[in-house]
Amino acid sequence: MPNHQAMEDRYLDIERLIEFDFIRATEAAALNVLPWLGRGQKELADGAASDAVRGMFDLMNICAEVVIGEGIKDNAPGLFKGEQLGRWLPGTPKFDIAIDPIDGTTNLSKGMPGSLSVIAAASPEPGIDQALMDIPSFYMKKLAYGPQVKRYAEKMGIETLNLLSPIDETLAIVAKALRKRVQDVVVCVLDRPRHAALIAEIREVGCALRMIGDGDIGGAIAPSLPNPEIDLYVGTGGSPEAVLAAAALRCLGGDIQAQMWPRDAEERASIEASGWKEPLDRVYTSADLAKGRNIMFCATAISDCPGLPGVRLTGEYAETHSILMRARSQTVRRIDTRHNLGSKTIRLRSSHSEHRL
Ligand code: FBP
Repeated sequence: MPNHQAMEDRYLDIERLIEFDFIRATEAAALNVLPWLGRGQKELADGAASDAVRGMFDLMNICAEVVIGEGIKDNAPGLFKGEQLGRWLPGTPKFDIAIDPIDGTTNLSKGMPGSLSVIAAASPEPGIDQALMDIPSFYMKKLAYGPQVKRYAEKMGIETLNLLSPIDETLAIVAKALRKRVQDVVVCVLDRPRHAALIAEIREVGCALRMIGDGDIGGAIAPSLPNPEIDLYVGTGGSPEAVLAAAALRCLGGDIQAQMWPRDAEERASIEASGWKEPLDRVYTSADLAKGRNIMFCATAISDCPGLPGVRLTGEYAETHSILMRARSQTVRRIDTRHNLGSKTIRLRSSHSEHRL
């Protein structure tokens, strides 16, 4: 006998309806920043992406609040924490939003690969206060890997794979989990002076290193995508980016381990003074950073990213490539969209109207 109540609940499951509007928002951001690709104008690009995201949310019958915004790290003109998005009509569903309208703004400003527009959302769930964790440090130390490595580590014992272990040990475990020679393990690291020793050690082990200039959400997710080009992401990057990656990994079945990385004694002291209750050296997993089952994630590539081609312009059309997924079902959708440049419009908050591309 069909369970009609269950069928009805499923049909009315708001996430299933609203998720496609989230992807419209990241698509709109990716399309609206195209004029800024390679123009060396990071702030204007960020402004254009945020304008399009806000414009799309203005059409949505939801009450959304930004709990993790982009402007925190470097005062970029992104969407800010506490900002309300959506129409906020009485009775419409609530969402907490973590957003990075452009991850990899520097890449975009140079016309380089590795920039994407990202949104994670969480709807209320009994027993969960704040699903998407607002980490007070600017940076976190991160280790991210795919489902096969996660399963292997769980089978071998929880401490097997550890962010705090020497990197050569971690690389040996990843190689075993993936049944690869260690020199065939592909490791992604942000190209930063702070990673000089880490990079030297990875080279010493002989792994295939892929350094990226920016955009470590894409780097951290890459090992969990189908047919991954990258096996492990390691290094220190932004904390909001760690939470956004965690949301994606909850949907993809991979994992991230992350620990706050205060840059100096002053930052450490200010986190302690803020009343932060947990030990600063706690290692968080994706389930800590993005809690519960009501997590959604979507991203649209602006320029080429691992596993996601950037926006292609054919003259008549713009083609976008996105990923959309939910933690509850772990369904991963790849969405390739063709936008007709003759008819496509994007709503912008700045003018409260639709604009041609
Ligand atoms: P934005 O494009 O949002 O500014 O972030 C780019 C980025 O590369 C992130 O992906 C990464 O987590 C962080 O910056 C690293 O910070 P920094 O550039 O200060 O090393």
